[in-house]
Amino acid sequence: MDRKQILQWLRENEDRRLEPLWRQADAARRRSVGDEVHLRGLVEISNHCVRECAYCGLRAGHRQLNRYRMSADEILQCARQAVAFGYGTVVLQSGEDPGLTAEGMADVVRRLKAETPLAVTLSLGERRDEDLVRWRAAGADRYLLRFETSNRELYASIHPPLGAALERRPWHGLRPCLGGRLAILRRLRELGYEIGSGVMIGIPGQTYDDLARDLELFRELDLDMIGVGPFIVHPATPLAEEGAARCAVAGADQVPASEPMTYKVIALARILCPQANIPSTTALATLNLARGREQGLERGANVIMPNLTPLPYRVLYEIYPAKACLRETPQMCHACLQTRIESIGRTVGVGRGDSPRYRGGWTAGPSRAKKGTAPFPQQPGRVQPPFSLPRAIGGEPSGHPGTATSRAVAGGTPDVPGWKEVV
Ligand code: 5AD
Ligand code: FES
Repeated sequence: MDRKQILQWLRENEDRRLEPLWRQADAARRRSVGDEVHLRGLVEISNHCVRECAYCGLRAGHRQLNRYRMSADEILQCARQAVAFGYGTVVLQSGEDPGLTAEGMADVVRRLKAETPLAVTLSLGERRDEDLVRWRAAGADRYLLRFETSNRELYASIHPPLGAALERRPWHGLRPCLGGRLAILRRLRELGYEIGSGVMIGIPGQTYDDLARDLELFRELDLDMIGVGPFIVHPATPLAEEGAARCAVAGADQVPASEPMTYKVIALARILCPQANIPSTTALATLNLARGREQGLERGANVIMPNLTPLPYRVLYEIYPAKACLRETPQMCHACLQTRIESIGRTVGVGRGDSPRYRGGWTAGPSRAKKGTAPFPQQPGRVQPPFSLPRAIGGEPSGHPGTATSRAVAGGTPDVPGWKEVV
């Protein structure tokens, strides 16, 4: 499928004419990854963040938000729940939090691998190379890092430079730019991680051309996992104010952050990257609680990520407002999802649900490395002075008042050496 055809589908709005796209995507899904729906237990381990992404409710500038960081024991407890539910994977996600130290995270990964059969996916933002190396050595299997948009200017405008202090001493040693992020993805692949990326749909200022290019970039990057979801306005972010003006500039070329557009992108991603694992995301369920997740699964997706984050923390992980399943317990989501999956004639996947190409374990080989290298631009200039961060960055975890677990967070986590120490 070429750019022109992708654009034609993205601009198609008639239900009847979209039917062949849904059918083609569903057939490609069945052929390439089968009827199993893999469940990945999501644990949102910290909402601290040093970045200022213009769309995200966790941005450092959102000072009203209470911040938390889970202890290693709490994370292990969630992972055990994933095992009990029969999930094959745990996904540890956070803001970009230097308080999650390299060694602390490596310990968590080692414990997860020693004490559970789970595949471990990390989604901890842009980190120093040595951190990624260490976590891979500790046993981490996969890494998710969305590139958000393939338009360099748009990317730069929604990922502003870090604050003045950090600008002088960027803690991960990379300039925040699209090229840098793609370079990290390339590096993750070299290190032997399965890699996942993706974009938001309907970012103010995102045009149809941008989105078509995003889809082509999925194919060029040869991703193992592709996560896409609609952009949802968070009132405490710059895009809440600037969104309308940015959309006005894009005019008729502005991509709507709509449910149908999300299905189109899922379907096209499946057709372009038949073997990828593609989740039907929470952001989609947020737009249509009744049927969003199921329709995603019927139009190309094969993964769901039930949320295992303890409730007191989950409400604080507010990337965008009114997230689906904000108040449901993991048990409720588990039962609900099982029913939903079976209601559309699919089965709940067993085992880790590795990317089909990597089943049985993948090690960096020359052909693979070569294949992954082409689409990435040169790695940007690296700045890696020996430096330390001021303690104030990311703030001390405030925890959630009044709960036993939050007291553990606020009081530190002595079981993980260096866990709270700032890099
Ligand atoms: N609306 C939709 N998705 C968002 N994300 C962050 N903020 C928003 C928002 N306001 C997505 C980004 C990020 C992922 C973890 O959540 O794509 O990579
Ligand atoms: Fe959470 Fe249905 S998946 S309530």
